[in-house]
Amino acid sequence: MSQERWSAVDDWTAAMLGGDDAALAAAAEASARAELPAIAVTPNQGKLLHLIARIQGARTILEMGTLGGYSTIWLARALPPDGRLVTLELEPRYAEVARANLERAGVAELVQLRAGPALESLRALIAEKAGPFDLIFIDADKQGTPEYFSAALELSRAGTVIVTDNVVRAGAIVDADSGDERVEGMRRFHELLAGEPRASATTIQTVGGKGYDGFTLALVEGEP
Ligand code: SAH
Ligand code: DHB
Ligand code: MG
Repeated sequence: MSQERWSAVDDWTAAMLGGDDAALAAAAEASARAELPAIAVTPNQGKLLHLIARIQGARTILEMGTLGGYSTIWLARALPPDGRLVTLELEPRYAEVARANLERAGVAELVQLRAGPALESLRALIAEKAGPFDLIFIDADKQGTPEYFSAALELSRAGTVIVTDNVVRAGAIVDADSGDERVEGMRRFHELLAGEPRASATTIQTVGGKGYDGFTLALVEGEP
């Protein structure tokens, strides 16, 4: 099976089931025009995040890695009118593009975007007692994922769902000596989960418009 076929299936199923709409497409276009890297979730992955949030009845969401706000819009749209979403982005220029996209999509009121290194923002959120969040999406730099997951646990309650993106890396996750710090980050993340009694998790491999990758779904079970 080829990338061409994976992309064709993504396009066809998204067109059938509602992958994205004008506001989301506009956000993707504005991000491309501003030359942001083309690494946002696909329309079908965005809808999966949206559905997970709704299934869970999430009222508070935390996201690490905003980029142009494409996944942020999908998640924010799952919130009730009094819900809130905090999203963390390192690059001020990306954050500006995201702010405009969130505004255009009509979700800016629900979203607080914090620019700066995610770890610093997470420490501030913990100090402010901003948690617990119902749903947490980890999608920033891949080498930082273990630390982000530990911080996410501190901002969780029993029942919090933590979704982590890009954990499979075209299968490289099984290479113990890949030499790629992003792969090593995802291996350490799995080691952390394996020894973590407060979370139950599984990793699902995916193919689609963004190639071969996967995500980890974790449920927080005890009071951290
Ligand atoms: N969630 C987005 C894609 C995020 S891409 C979507 O699917 O639409 C990963 C993002 O993480 C990039 O925008 C990158 O600038 C940001 N990032 C990288 N290192 C970071 C850090 N240390 N703290 C916060 N964000 C970081
Ligand atoms: C990268 C980041 C992502 O969030 C993603 O979905 C794909 C790739 C990256 O930094 O390479
Ligand atoms: Mg990602």
